This record gives sequence, structure tokens and C-alpha cells, in this order.
Amino acid sequence: MDENNTRPDSEQTTAQKTQESVDNGQSENTGKTKKRSGFTSKVGFVLAAAGSAVGLGNIWRFPYLAAKYGGGIFLLTYIALAITFGFVLMVAEIALGRKTGASAINAFKKLNKKWAFLGVLCAIIPIIILPYYSVIGGWVGKYFITFLSGNGHAAAGDNYFNNFIASPWQPLLFFAIFITIAFVIVLFGVEKGVEKTSKILMPALVILTIGVTIYTLTMPGSWEGVKYYLLPDFKKFSIKTVLGALGQLFYSMSLAMGIMITYGSYMKKENKIESSVHQIEVFDTGIAMLSGLMIIPAAYAFSGGSPETLGQGPGLMFVALPKVFDTFGAVGGGILGALFFALVFFAALTSAISLMETVVSIVMDKFKLSRKISSVITYVGTLLLGIPSSLGFGVWSAVSIKGMTILDMFDFLSNSVLMPIVALLTCVFIGFVVRCQTLTDEIELNGRFRWKKFFNVMIKYICPLCIAIILVTSLLDVFGVFNI
Ligand code: PHE
Repeated sequence: MDENNTRPDSEQTTAQKTQESVDNGQSENTGKTKKRSGFTSKVGFVLAAAGSAVGLGNIWRFPYLAAKYGGGIFLLTYIALAITFGFVLMVAEIALGRKTGASAINAFKKLNKKWAFLGVLCAIIPIIILPYYSVIGGWVGKYFITFLSGNGHAAAGDNYFNNFIASPWQPLLFFAIFITIAFVIVLFGVEKGVEKTSKILMPALVILTIGVTIYTLTMPGSWEGVKYYLLPDFKKFSIKTVLGALGQLFYSMSLAMGIMITYGSYMKKENKIESSVHQIEVFDTGIAMLSGLMIIPAAYAFSGGSPETLGQGPGLMFVALPKVFDTFGAVGGGILGALFFALVFFAALTSAISLMETVVSIVMDKFKLSRKISSVITYVGTLLLGIPSSLGFGVWSAVSIKGMTILDMFDFLSNSVLMPIVALLTCVFIGFVVRCQTLTDEIELNGRFRWKKFFNVMIKYICPLCIAIILVTSLLDVFGVFNI
């Protein structure tokens, strides 16, 4: 299965990339220099980065946040943030990676020793995300098996989802299966096969999603959902909408956790950063918006006008979609549901592998361990860390802070606290420590950077200031200092 020597660079796996980034860091210490290879084409780069970006964040998380934070107003806020903050931060991270030729842990250190801590902070985030990401991946696996085994009708029942996540061992089992599959793939280095397969399966997922959306929109009541989703209601706007959208932006675009820095370190100097970022953004946001358009109207169609499921949170996709599939009858619904959840499972798996690779490389780098041992440590650690998230919906549901389940807490900690902090510090680092010009020169290596002025102003003033305001006010709100 290993075709290392025959493959073009553009099809390098995340494994090779992270492995090399570690080598790169070590060679700095030993004084040896090692040539980094990279993506040969821009298309290769865009596809690989989009592959990491598109995952459960788009299909599962975006729709439920949109439902929770007021529909259209969330969508509008998200798009506004994506074309401003998202664009600027992704350009910055990729340029930082390409400039330094190093992964996050080393990139900051390389430019300024005192800022090495920011690389470490970046590294913590995937360690927090991977376990709970895998718990959701496990839920997807469970639904795939349910539909495959002809129990799709039961899955459309009202309490099916809640009973499943509340059961003590089932979600744990599926979580363990999901993370074990990711681990085996990482351990045996067969990511290339997975990445190749996903290039066929991802478009299939998009086509299926479009088909299900069109079908759902023929159902009575669904257009109320479309209205809710697309028409902004400004009365529903609050700082929480902005924080929710910002955290989602980072999560979905794999920003503020060093991943795009690593990808950037493999980008060829002759490829254009600016246009690549536009493409990744369109791809990622497009799939998220489409998923919302599929799921929210579906929730309306089956609610008789009062879609309580909209407040369902993490369960929205799992509650809304089986009802749609069920209308196709036992066989049709079974096939459709199994196909859909299989494709989502794949999208989740590729993202989980990318997260796991990152964690493995951190363990290798920090403890100077072999790749195999680091993979085992990452696997066991993830299993242990995922257990509380999984049990938090059942046996440990009494454990909650401010109404958040354990999974919500991890999610909140990474997306709403740590990522904004990393993004803020990255802006300060670029704007005031290494100076914007260091990066804009890198971006302009092959042509004019059309948004240069905008980039400079955003990085130096607007992004850090806005992120600080959003972060502080929402934290004060969560911890009950005042209510917004
Ligand atoms: N961006 C991915 C998603 O939307 C999640 C992810 C984050 C994947 C970081 C890899 C790295 O699902």
C-alpha cells in the first residue's frame, strides 16, 4: 500500500508533512539542513487544505449553531467574519508557515524566541478537540450502522437520539471504534488511500446533500425553515452571536491552532497565497451553508410549525435528518441514510486524521519519541479524554457548568476561549513583533497582494481589538458577571 516513492509531492500525506516538520525542527538543533518538499501545484495545496477544513464542523456544527443563534443573523455574521477575519487570519497563517518553513511549534520560535509559547498554545487546541470530535464521529458511525441494518425507521423516532447518547456504553463503543480506525490509519501510514478515496467521496457528499436539500424543500413547512435560515432578524443579534460565529469560523477553517501554518510550510513559493485562500474559504463556507440549508428546513418540515429541535444543540443533525430519510420507506430510507452517514463518517475521519497527525507530531517533537510510540500515546490519551465527553450525555449528565455538558465545555474551551486567544496573540505577533511587512513580502513574492492595506489594518488593529472585546464580554457573561 505504501507508494511513497512513486507519488507526486502534491499527494503527500499529513503524516509525511508533520513528520518532516518535526525533522525540520530537530535539524535546526543538530545543525543539519533537510530539504522540505511540498505541494507541487496550487490545486494540490487547495484540495489538501480544504480536506482538513471540511468536516463535522461544516456538516454537524454549523447548522446547529445557526439554528441556535437565530438563523439568518448568524449566517450573515458568519459570512461577514469569514471574508474579513477568516481571510486575513488564513492568509497570515499560511504566509507564516511558508516564510518560516516550519510547523506552528517552531514557526513562532524561529521568528522570535520569546514567542515560542504561542506555538505551544496552538498545540494544546487539537489535543482538546480530537477527543470530543471523535465522540461525534462515533455518533455518525452509530447512525450509519443503524441505517445499514434496516433500523432507519426507529432512528426517526422522537427519543431515539436522546436514548442513544444517554445510554452508558453505546456511545462509548462507537467513539472507541471511530478513534481506533483513525489510529490504525495513522499507525500504518495509509492516509494516502483515505485522502484519495475522500477526493471521490467528498464530491459525492456534496451531491447527496444538494439532492436531500431539494427533496426537503418540497415538503410542507420547510420553507419556513428557509426563511429562518436566510432572512436575518436583527433583533436576535447579540455579542454571543458574534462569539459563536467567530469560534465556528476558527474551528471550521482549521485556524488558530497551527494547522494552516503547517500546511503553509509546504506550499511552493510560486503559488499564490491570496487566491488559494479565497478558494479554500469558498469551499468551506459553501459546504457549511449548504448543510444548514439541508438540516434547518428539515427540522421545520417535521415540527408542525414549532421547531423545538432547533434548540437541540449538538443533536440537531441526528434528529432532523432521519425523519427525512424515513419518508423514503424502509429500503429506500435505509440505503439513503446509510449512504449519507457513511459519507459524513468519511469526512469526519479525514479531519480526525489531520487532527491526530498534528497531536502525534507534537508528542514526537516534545518527548523525542518514535512515531509509533507517539501514535499509541495519542490514541490512549484521546480515548481517556473522550470518555467524559461521551458520558456527559448520560451517566455524568449531572456534571455541568453554566448549563454546558462536558462535551460543550471542551468545545467552549477550545473554540470560544483558546482559539480567540491564539488568534489575538497571532495578530499582535505579526502586527507588532515581526511586523506585517515580513508577511506581506512573502505574499507578494509572486504578484501584487490586492488586499494588503486591508490586511495590515485588520491584523494590527481591528482583529485584535474586536477579538479582545468579544472574548472579554462573553466570558464575563458566561461567568455571570453581567448579562448581555
Ligand atoms: N475544520 C474541521 C471541521 O470543520 C475540524 C478540524 C479542525 C480538522 C482542525 C482538522 C484540524 O470539521
